Parts: sequence; C-alpha cells; structure tokens
Amino acid sequence: MEGLSQSFRALGDPTRLRILRLLAEAPLNVSELVSLVGVAQSSVSHHLGKLKGLDLIREERQAGFTFYSLDVDEKDPRWPLVQLARQADDEAGDLARLNDLLRQREDRQALNEKLLEPGQSWFLWARALASLLPPLNVVDFGCGTGVLTVEMARWAKRVTAIDANKDVLEQARDRADREEVRNVTFLCEDLHRLSLPDRKYDLVVISQSLHHVEAPPRVLQEAARILVPGGRIVLMELMPHEEKWVQQRLGHRHLGFEPEALKKVLEESGFRQVQLTTHARDGASPFRVFLLTGVRR
Ligand SMILES: C[S@@+](CC[C@H](N)C(=O)[O-])C[C@H]1O[C@@H](n2cnc3c(N)ncnc32)[C@H](O)[C@@H]1O
Repeated sequence: MEGLSQSFRALGDPTRLRILRLLAEAPLNVSELVSLVGVAQSSVSHHLGKLKGLDLIREERQAGFTFYSLDVDEKDPRWPLVQLARQADDEAGDLARLNDLLRQREDRQALNEKLLEPGQSWFLWARALASLLPPLNVVDFGCGTGVLTVEMARWAKRVTAIDANKDVLEQARDRADREEVRNVTFLCEDLHRLSLPDRKYDLVVISQSLHHVEAPPRVLQEAARILVPGGRIVLMELMPHEEKWVQQRLGHRHLGFEPEALKKVLEESGFRQVQLTTHARDGASPFRVFLLTGVRR
C-alpha cells in the first residue's frame, strides 16, 4: 500500500505524468524528452530519477545513449494509473511531436542503411579486395556491355572479353575507352567454340551468361580447356525460376539452373574444389543468384 501511495503522490506532478505517458509509447533518451516536453534538461533528469526510484521506468544503454522505457505491465497494481495517463487529453501536443520524432528516427535509420549497406560501400570494398589479387590473365565469357570487364581490368593483367553480339561488344569497347582502360582484348566469338589456345588463362568469369547459351556443358568444357592447371572459374547464375517472359524479351534459353546440378556439370568438365554460395532473395525480385567457384584439375 505504501508503494502505491508513493506512486500516486509522485504522479501528482503533471510534467512527470507527461513523461510517463511518452515512455509508455516508446523508449526515449533525455534529449528527446527535453525536446518533446519542452522543459530544461535538469528538470527532465530530476523527473526521470523519481520515476526510476519508484520502479515505474527502467534505463538501458543503446548506441551510446541511455534510453528510458516503461517498467510496469498489466500485472502491476499501478497499471490502471498508467492507463489513465495514456488516455488523458494531449493538450500540450506531446504525442504528435513524438510521432514526428519516431518518423525521423526511422528515416535516419533507413538512410544510414542505404548509405552503408550494400550500396556504395560494398562496391568500394569489392574493388579494394580485388586490388589484393595477383595480376591475372582473365577471360570474361559473355561480357555484354562490359561493366564487369572494366571493373576486372582494374586489377587484372589482361582481360579477354568475349561476346557473340557485335553491338554490345561495341558498347563494352566504348566503356573501356571512356574509363581509359587499355588492357582488354575484345573478341566477337561463340562461347561454344573459342579460338583461344589451350591452358593459357588464370581465371574464367561467367556472369549471368550461361542461361543464354544453347549447351552449357560445352561452354564449361571450353572454360576448362583454356585454363592453366590450377586456374579458377567463377560462375554467377540464376536459380530456377518461372519468369517465361525472359525467353522472348531477353533471349534466355534456360530458366535458371539447379545449383547442385550445375556443380556436377562443372566437376564433370574438369573442375575440383567446386564451392557453391547462394544469395538471399533480393527485395521483390523474382530472380535469385548463386555463385559457383572451382579449380581446374
Ligand atoms: C546477361 S549478359 C551478361 C553480361 C555480363 N557478363 C554481366 O554480368 O553484366 C549475357 C551475354 O552473353 C552473350 N552471349 C549469349 N550467348 C552467347 C554465345 N553463345 N557466345 C558468346 N556470347 C553469348 C550475350 O550476347 C550477352 O551479351
């Protein structure tokens, strides 16, 4: 009874009641409470001290700030008191300001994630890590407009970029010129039968090109043929999907591949230590990618 009476007495102060109501809605730190309630920081700290002393609120450290939140639930005899505070008129507009503050918090978080997560920093990390590679002789199978080709040319000794489509090859050439990349040889050839010599290259990269070719095993055998023993293959492909429109509109011949089945084809084509990595689904896209890497026997 004594505890209950103390709580009633403590909540006789309107500012304290407003603070309690705000903390019942969301965990908040002192400066947020100062901006919401509009009283001095020393006064907010004093009220928080009182509420904490009565075990009405608790504090928790998060990202360098102390956050306060309600520490009372339905089983507590003081719960009806908290409910009355929550239902009282919001004459000072505390709840509207709280909504604004919570929205800004979310925006800040989303912006941070956008800036730091996959976006720019992953791209730079990929470039930084690639710069640690030795100077390799790379072949890009189905280079398309050359985005990856030019990126690889930054660290490779030489990139041989192959595509059967003259127009996209021209665009890849323009891209390399624009980026002042000079160590790329462009070849207009069919990946099923390449003019490249046996056992000469260190790395074959096949990024999203295999679903375009008529006979994937034949193309993988060509990759094995031109690689030095111990040379590597990196293959990025789509998981099986049912988006049939890509056949007409994008010229896909295969609606993705079963990763385990493609892994087996790689092993049968002369690769060992074949490793599979599957990427998580990316947003609303119906396409999921996976990566296979292997070493030429
Ligand atoms: C989706 S693009 C891949 C572009 C690039 N590798 C990338 O990841 O951004 C597939 C490319 O493979 C090429 N291609 C398809 N079949 C081919 C074949 N048999 N021989 C050579 N290139 C082929 C297409 O012309 C197309 O440019």
